[in-house]
Amino acid sequence: MMKILLLGAQGQVGQELKLVLPSLGTVTAWGRADFDLATSGGLMAAVVEQQPDLIVNAAAYTAVDRAESEPELAHQINAVVPEQLAQAAESCGSKLIHISTDYVFDGRQNRPYQIDAATNPLGVYGQSKLAGEQAVQRATDRYAILRTAWVYGAKGKGNFVKTMLRLGAERDELGVVYDQVGTPTWAYDIAQAIAALVPQLNEQTFGIYHYTNSGAVSWYDFAVAIFEEARTLGYPLQLSSVRPITSEQYPTPTERPAYSVLAGDRLARVLNQTAPHWRASLRKMLKEYLNIYK
Ligand SMILES: NC(=O)c1ccc[n+]([C@@H]2O[C@H](COP(=O)([O-])OP(=O)(O)OC[C@H]3O[C@@H](n4cnc5c(N)ncnc54)[C@H](OP(=O)(O)O)[C@@H]3O)[C@@H](O)[C@H]2O)c1
Repeated sequence: MMKILLLGAQGQVGQELKLVLPSLGTVTAWGRADFDLATSGGLMAAVVEQQPDLIVNAAAYTAVDRAESEPELAHQINAVVPEQLAQAAESCGSKLIHISTDYVFDGRQNRPYQIDAATNPLGVYGQSKLAGEQAVQRATDRYAILRTAWVYGAKGKGNFVKTMLRLGAERDELGVVYDQVGTPTWAYDIAQAIAALVPQLNEQTFGIYHYTNSGAVSWYDFAVAIFEEARTLGYPLQLSSVRPITSEQYPTPTERPAYSVLAGDRLARVLNQTAPHWRASLRKMLKEYLNIYK
């Protein structure tokens, strides 16, 4: 049986991985309570002690705006931890799957980003995630880095979909930015893609991948779709109108990429399957979340 060590087991993607990875091997799943990554002294030794065949890192500092005021912590979780995991993988002869982000790009392109497109993160979060990618690549050859984007799921903490459902229940009207385009991606689909990639990982297939759902949409259009689908499913909504606004009208501490669609061709080729369309996955997530939502 393959031994798998999963980090970030309580996160949106981590919780889905915890459910799917046992189909591939024996899983040890660590959340914050098992190992606080903010003080990573001893991380390498603790990982090596497990002698995993595969390390899957779903842990991250994901508070994009807060990262601007906590750059050291963001760097620790997003760059130092992956580096130590890659060093541990190298010393046990194991493989590492690490998750990264579309925010390594500046979003000034107007066609989907290929895996080798030039990176240029706009803020601390993106910089820390890029540093993590580079540290992994320096420390081992036996890695897969999977960049994803606009992640939401029924499990784990808040996300855009949950925020829209809450605001839609409270307000009559809402403004949502239309000048940022990307691909909403269901955490469940990311976990399925990672599980499908595991048996395919070898000298020919190590490297960088992009995985998102298919399609591209603005946050505004995504919000409209969320409300349409949620209404069909009977979520309580009092909202009557969604207004498209610009990023300038909704200032945040970190600038976001204006366009961050990722080209997923490489993974689609290796897995011999294309990712589900974002709207089909949104519908499935909303059905699942209906049972949890109060
Ligand atoms: N969310 C997005 O929109 C998005 C977009 C692109 C890429 N990604 C990438 O996708 C991956 C998964 O993201 P996600 O949305 O699943 O993130 P998430 O829900 O925020 O999960 C991250 C997990 O990391 C854990 N973590 C953070 N600091 C820790 C610490 N000091 N010690 C131990 N654990 C710690 C968190 O623990 P707690 O639960 O205890 O806080 C959380 O469970 C990440 O690599 C992220 O960068 C996410």
